[in-house]
Amino acid sequence: MGRKEQRFYRIGDTHCAFIGLVGAWSPFGLSFCLFMVSLFRLFLFSFAFFTMPLLAIEKLQFNRDVRPILSDKCFFCHGADAEHRKGNLRLDEQVSAFKPAKSGEIAIVPGKPDQSALLSRISLHEEDDDVMPTKKSGKTLSTREKSLLKQWISEGAEYQGHWAFTKPMAPVI
Ligand code: HEC
Repeated sequence: MGRKEQRFYRIGDTHCAFIGLVGAWSPFGLSFCLFMVSLFRLFLFSFAFFTMPLLAIEKLQFNRDVRPILSDKCFFCHGADAEHRKGNLRLDEQVSAFKPAKSGEIAIVPGKPDQSALLSRISLHEEDDDVMPTKKSGKTLSTREKSLLKQWISEGAEYQGHWAFTKPMAPVI
């Protein structure tokens, strides 16, 4: 490889400097180096491409992913309406859900699904007397709903802006 070419490849970006340097020494010549560099770029690109979706898995959001489940399956007996409330447990409010309910057990222990009464109750067999929602209510949770609740508790059971929702949910007199 001549001096002229070497100088030429030093002018460009770092890749060109690299090609210029290696190309000058390589027995395979410049085209092989160019080929290796493009391979390397392809490798970097595909690496980024395949790892991106893994990094993009985001945390569940209470209002979007969890509230609809609780509201449909639990709030009737564990919601804002004190008359219908069972087991002295409110699941629409973080303060209440995180403290001991009637039995003394805690429904939600943030980050610890295995210590959360909510999870043990929903994981019971649907014929079990203690299963939640109750057998009598005629409601059941799908496997997906159960795993969403579990994931949300594992992720710290963060409630979101319930103040925005309590107003429209106020009972009509
Ligand atoms: C139709 C009414 C009804 C619905 C709907 C219902 N529950 Fe309950 N829940 C009860 C009653 C009644 C009790 C108290 C008796 C008992 O502990 O089994 C209770 C108790 C509980 C307790 C235990 C409270 C304590 O004292 O430790 C948890 C946890 C619970 N429910 C979670 C849920 C969850 C989660 C849902 C929704 C997936 C749900 N419940 C839906 C009626 C209901």
